[in-house]
Amino acid sequence: MFEFAFPKDFLLGTANSSFQSEGAWDRDGKSMNVIDHYARLYAGKAHPNTGRILTEFPPDDGCFFYDNYEAYIEDMAKTGQNVYRLSLSWCRIIPTGVGEVNPKGIEFYSKVFDKMLSCGITPFVDLLHWDLPQCLQEQGGYLNPAFPEWFEAYARVCFRAFGDRVKLWSTSNESVVTVGSGYGTGGFPPYKKDRRLMLQGTHNVILSHFRAVRAYREMGFDGQIGIVHAITPCYPAEPWVPEDIDAAERSVLNRFDFYMGPMTEGKYPQKLLDECPNIEALMPEGYQVDLDKWFAPMDFVGVNYYNSARVRYEPKTFTKSTGVENFYTAPGQKFVAYPAGLLDVLTYVWQRYGLPVYISENGMGVESDNDEETDCHDNFRIEYLREHLRMVARAIKLGVGVKGYFYWNDADSYETQSGYLYRFGLTWVDRKTGRRRWKDSRYYFSKVCKARMVD
Ligand code: NOJ
Repeated sequence: MFEFAFPKDFLLGTANSSFQSEGAWDRDGKSMNVIDHYARLYAGKAHPNTGRILTEFPPDDGCFFYDNYEAYIEDMAKTGQNVYRLSLSWCRIIPTGVGEVNPKGIEFYSKVFDKMLSCGITPFVDLLHWDLPQCLQEQGGYLNPAFPEWFEAYARVCFRAFGDRVKLWSTSNESVVTVGSGYGTGGFPPYKKDRRLMLQGTHNVILSHFRAVRAYREMGFDGQIGIVHAITPCYPAEPWVPEDIDAAERSVLNRFDFYMGPMTEGKYPQKLLDECPNIEALMPEGYQVDLDKWFAPMDFVGVNYYNSARVRYEPKTFTKSTGVENFYTAPGQKFVAYPAGLLDVLTYVWQRYGLPVYISENGMGVESDNDEETDCHDNFRIEYLREHLRMVARAIKLGVGVKGYFYWNDADSYETQSGYLYRFGLTWVDRKTGRRRWKDSRYYFSKVCKARMVD
């Protein structure tokens, strides 16, 4: 009853993404991605919408994974983890976005996968984690009606090259950020605020997901394919006010189910469309016809869980809901932890969709002034891991089909817009030299992985 254990086949590991970890941003034929481009464009300047000063650093070094991947993977094996989630750089594999394949890009990831498998680490691979080739962005990116076709062609190259070794694929990461924030709220490159464009981009990303899933099946692979979405449990500001309950529900529908609904049931959430006619009015023409034509079921969903929100009814906003101050606030943390929210999201996703679910990201990032000793003695991160992993074990006991947990991130890396300010890693990385050191939290995580149990 008081034991928090993980089943034998449970995947327990860490995650990172190409642009955040690799560095080597201009080597071996790689072209520029949108993060490389916009970080340079706005380096040290005010964010075009919020006014916040953006990092002066582009993601040129990451955590030096490109050069040190062998050592990183050996560390993962020593940790006792059995999985690592990483993403592929489209710009390394097809530098022109569409067309010629770069043999050096294929060679790099081939070496990474071979090394992982030789160390007993299962790869969980995202085709696209935010770093869209800038040359495609210049042709409209997600908004171009050809986007689903570009993506399918890229996905086919990846499946052909790595499908023999990679058995767990995700099409893309957190579309609510790339298209939702990139075009709707203006918080992410290309910093646009136009809901019609946002809905067009969202729709194209959903179609691109279907096309990759179909291609994967057509090519006859025996692995699993799904997607990774961000999820934020939204609680009514005042649960005894019925309008707030509805507003909180709309908020979740807008942030999560708007992607998940079409991808599992071929439909955008009807409640949201019914209650917000302004959304329906801006939807791309013929959206249901497209969904009916391309729909392809997926095998699992990955959810990235960091924080929770409190929401109240606000008729003037796009979704007739708005966030209010959270109970949980803490200075210096990128996201304020609320472990119980993880149990809420896992039960929500499982009960609503019944698909196997991975916690594809969960992690604690804190501002650092680069003092190695302070950064490495990270008791708060141990506490964070313990409380969240206990929630996962509780969910398993309750019968939720949760299949894996990935701590974000494997090592201190790059964050869009804030650069190297926040450290999330289990491994400490010297920003200048790439020198690595296990934090206390990595020693702790190692115990958990080896015992397959949390204390
Ligand atoms: C989610 C994103 O997928 C990842 O790229 C980012 O680093 C983390 N959130 C932390 O901010």
